[in-house]
Amino acid sequence: MKTILWATLTANGNYAQSGPDNPPKKEALDDFTAQANAAGNLIVGRRTFEGMQDPSRISAEEQANAGGPFTGLDIVVLSKSAQAIPGVTVARSPQEALDFLRKKGHPTALVSGGAEIHNAFLSQGLIHEVIFNVVPVMEGKGLNLLIDQEAYRHKPVQLLDCKSLGSGVVQLRYAMNG
Ligand SMILES: NC(=O)c1ccc[n+]([C@@H]2O[C@H](COP(=O)([O-])OP(=O)(O)OC[C@H]3O[C@@H](n4cnc5c(N)ncnc54)[C@H](OP(=O)(O)O)[C@@H]3O)[C@@H](O)[C@H]2O)c1
Repeated sequence: MKTILWATLTANGNYAQSGPDNPPKKEALDDFTAQANAAGNLIVGRRTFEGMQDPSRISAEEQANAGGPFTGLDIVVLSKSAQAIPGVTVARSPQEALDFLRKKGHPTALVSGGAEIHNAFLSQGLIHEVIFNVVPVMEGKGLNLLIDQEAYRHKPVQLLDCKSLGSGVVQLRYAMNG
């Protein structure tokens, strides 16, 4: 099973944080929905999942579309503490999340954030490919994506694709086995 990490980065290379003062770009969100639907699944950290559930962050269009854009997908929420959450599968570790999706026959798993989850997968060497959507925003002090710093100081990766998504959003796609 191929594991893809999907993330939005700011123009100055931070791991982008969205909120009321910096709402996600429509082009990046549409791409995320398309990638998740293509994979048929998404893996998400407990804090990001709770943010996705916040009604103030869901558009009127999504509220009208009962179930939202992820209806029918296998959603895996990573948490060491949460008990069962209706409609999703809770996994206790990155490997447990991948084992669940592999057993369900998914050829691809989409790891969609947030920072702790992305860094857990990267540092455990569980990612085959990364998709970065770079948005035209500079951010002050913020979050970073980190590889296993004991194993690597620099890890070359292979550029697979580079394209514009519109409104200044640029998508970069890399294979981790550069
Ligand atoms: N740039 C992007 O593409 C992108 C995407 C999504 C989110 N974000 C941003 O990321 C931020 C949220 O990220 P975050 O780091 O605070 O939270 P997060 O990664 O969404 O969730 C963290 C939680 O996941 C669980 N967890 C973490 N590591 C785990 C592991 N190894 N095994 C099992 N469970 C694990 C823990 O849940 P328990 O506490 O329940 O144990 C932890 O509290 C927000 O600012 C959001 O805007 C950015």
